[in-house]
Amino acid sequence: MKLTPYERAPKDPYASLCGPGQWSKNPPVLPSSEIPQHIAIVMDGNGRWANERGLVRTEGHKAGEYALMDTIAGAIDIGVRYLSVYTFSTENWKRSPAEIRFIMSYASDVLERRTPQLNEWGVRVRWSGRHPRLWKSVVKALQKAERETQQNTTLDLVMCVNYGGRAEIADTARRIAQGVAEGRLRPEGVNERTFARHLYLPDIPDVDLMIRSSGEQRVSNYLLWQLAYAELMFVPTPWPAFDREELWDCVLEYAGRDRRFGAAVDQVTLR
Ligand code: IPE
Ligand code: IPE
Ligand code: MG
Repeated sequence: MKLTPYERAPKDPYASLCGPGQWSKNPPVLPSSEIPQHIAIVMDGNGRWANERGLVRTEGHKAGEYALMDTIAGAIDIGVRYLSVYTFSTENWKRSPAEIRFIMSYASDVLERRTPQLNEWGVRVRWSGRHPRLWKSVVKALQKAERETQQNTTLDLVMCVNYGGRAEIADTARRIAQGVAEGRLRPEGVNERTFARHLYLPDIPDVDLMIRSSGEQRVSNYLLWQLAYAELMFVPTPWPAFDREELWDCVLEYAGRDRRFGAAVDQVTLR
């Protein structure tokens, strides 16, 4: 009997797993122009996955660690260069103190335990998000991972922690206003390019493909600026059951899509 992704057995989040190139199957071979350079993932559905098994929500967050590592390995295998993952939003502070406490401690713990492995895989960890309110221990763990992996060039893993798309846009507008007040920028000269240069991580390109797990079809304040022309994909699989093969399926579907960026492709020639 073939299990649906939703029914897959929980995996041990601490287990060591197959790294890039060590999976039993090879990734689909596609021309590099059809591989998304930047994939952004909304890792949703941890709570529901756990509750459906009679477990507390935090067990779902734990199981999500393995899915994340497997997805990173799969992204490397298929040739993705930037992978952003929504870990904690500026709205997630609305959750119970116990859940917030768990997520904060677990985030530092995962960074601490997984950095050596990420280093081996050539992954550069980056943090995107707001400083205020985020636990100091998490900021320290993120900065340590950033320092220890800064020389890596295989894949940039952008951890969006205490991240909100509107918060980033407001913070960017504030930086530009400061530049104007200090005489470094002229108001008439502010355009989309100026704006993009003042984002949290200005060197990361726009998102090509956004994937959201667990069936919810919304953006939930994720990368609002960078998603402008992204292809959107919503998969029913809850995050803890997501894996590299499902990522490859998403990339295959992406490769079949027709991205036009506002231009027109004529099937019948205009005279
Ligand atoms: C996503 O899973 C993880 C975080 C938001 C931290 P959820 O915790 O939102 O899981 P559901 O959506 O309630 O199932
Ligand atoms: C988005 O998921 C945030 C993360 C995955 C970190 P949520 O579960 O918080 O989003 P909503 O509340 O369903 O929109
Ligand atoms: Mg959710």
